[in-house]
Amino acid sequence: KIQRTLAMVKPDAVDRWPEIEKIILEEGFTIVERRQVRLMRAEAEEFYAEHRDKPFFPDLLQYITSGDVLALILAGEDAIGHWRRVLGPTRVSEARQEAPGSLRARFGSPHNDSHNAAHGSDSVNSAHREIKFFFPDLTLEPVLTGE
Ligand code: CMP
Repeated sequence: KIQRTLAMVKPDAVDRWPEIEKIILEEGFTIVERRQVRLMRAEAEEFYAEHRDKPFFPDLLQYITSGDVLALILAGEDAIGHWRRVLGPTRVSEARQEAPGSLRARFGSPHNDSHNAAHGSDSVNSAHREIKFFFPDLTLEPVLTGE
């Protein structure tokens, strides 16, 4: 099924965009939209609301507001799962062990679990919410099958 997902390139990895874009295109995704933004603290809190009670939340907010991020809408076959496989495990140290070619292994920092290069929506519902969050004015046609 064709899906859309929200990808976010995090501050430390934004200057690696040319390499990351190459991977995205080689993987067969269509880049539907791209926007570079600096998140305000309140926006970051909203985006990551599900993690608000986690011990790493303050560090995550500090990091994600420390510079511009690149928000992308990616489309393709099984885009949500496909993008998460391209990312690799959340923790970069684990990614380097288990998926050395993955985007997080290549562009993330093994010293801080928040500095993992990029984010991807984890479900159809999250993808909807996160696409709306970064692209509130965008009207997207329904995908042919599934969401
Ligand atoms: P992301 O996919 O953007 O979703 C939540 C983020 O929290 C995650 O990537 C990491 O950047 C950050 N984070 C920091 N510590 C942890 C942790 N121990 N487990 C999961 N996510 C973490």
